[in-house]
Amino acid sequence: MRSATVLLLLVLTAVALAEQVSYRNYKVYQTEITEHKQQALLKRWENLDGVDFWEGNGRRIMIEPRLQKKFELYLQAHKIPHKIIIEDVEETIEAERKYDQEYRRTHADLGRSTISFDNFWTLDEIHDYLDELAAEYPSLATVENIGTTEEGRVMKAITISTTNGVVSGTKPVIFIDAGIHAREWAAIMSALYLIHELVEHSDEYPDMLANDWVIIPAANPDGYEYSHTTNRLWRKNRFPVTVLCSGVDLNRNWDYQWAYTSNACSDTYAGAEGNSEAETRALVALMQRYSANLRLYLAVHTYGNLILYPFGYTMPFVPVSNADEHIAMGQKAAAAVTAVGGPTFTVGNSAEILYSATGASDDYAAGAAGFTYAFTLELTGGGSNGFDLPASQIMAVASQTFEIFRSLAGDI
Ligand code: ARG
Ligand code: ZN
Repeated sequence: MRSATVLLLLVLTAVALAEQVSYRNYKVYQTEITEHKQQALLKRWENLDGVDFWEGNGRRIMIEPRLQKKFELYLQAHKIPHKIIIEDVEETIEAERKYDQEYRRTHADLGRSTISFDNFWTLDEIHDYLDELAAEYPSLATVENIGTTEEGRVMKAITISTTNGVVSGTKPVIFIDAGIHAREWAAIMSALYLIHELVEHSDEYPDMLANDWVIIPAANPDGYEYSHTTNRLWRKNRFPVTVLCSGVDLNRNWDYQWAYTSNACSDTYAGAEGNSEAETRALVALMQRYSANLRLYLAVHTYGNLILYPFGYTMPFVPVSNADEHIAMGQKAAAAVTAVGGPTFTVGNSAEILYSATGASDDYAAGAAGFTYAFTLELTGGGSNGFDLPASQIMAVASQTFEIFRSLAGDI
């Protein structure tokens, strides 16, 4: 081969490699913890490079190839029952990418104003859709830019209200953000489906529209974009923390019971201080604007089939004063999901049934912002796939989640 050709090939390979982070041969282990001691033993792996606790509690852990042998020996030594549920994470990511390319190739003729819940939308598509709604339904919806991210992207909030698309000041405000965690794509799609139903089928939901809705469907634009272009399993924002590591976990950054975490490279790095991040500050400012009417806050995440109530910053947990109401509302919402044939959601305090975590948005909403009710929803994941729910299941998850939204809104 001529050297110019070789050089070209090398360059092309380098470009291809730089394009997407590969999870080739990364495995996901499912553990079955029987004793409390084992939980602590697992926890020791949590903040290692190449280890990703997909469900925080250690039930599903992704391990890079280099550490797999060690990890398996460790599990055996401590008699922690386990099985491998994904042999090669890259394969599931590639399947997702291929589906999307194929979907876009075969639907290219549909044009932009046709929406579908059969594929995941890009940030631009999300923002275009919000703007289109505001243009088409001026008496019901308004869209505004509530902030600018580190990389210069705007954050958009849509307000849905029968009083000309602006918060009335008399009706209860329901405030929802999705996508604080970049890789949780199905959460974003579920928020978009809610927006779609409330705006484009508003006549079907007069009860829900007795409230004013403020929704930020893509609350971490830089991270979301990055999860599309570079690293499918990116969780944080893209703030350059050190020369080596970028990203603050926006669900550890809120200034209520915020706590410093030293490892900037960790997936749960909390930032330099409470509310240090532009994304957090934009959401806080929006909450403050409506402080007199804040009734229900929902943080939409994936995955785990959980409806979580505050506080989650410590264990043994400190319950919000109206915990009983939260539990009753959560259980009703869970029943609404099973009523439409969906999976069983577990209702509980986040620290108790998941894990304690400081600086999360739900704690801020209940503890500082003044919401009467606050929940974190962990929606349904894709079987063994976790974050990369197959696109064919978006509609099912989004419509089941809609029942949660509807049920909770009916109870406030
Ligand atoms: N999966 C969410 C996270 O890791 C759960 C947060 C629940 N809230 C809490 N205060 N612990 O951020
Ligand atoms: Zn999350």
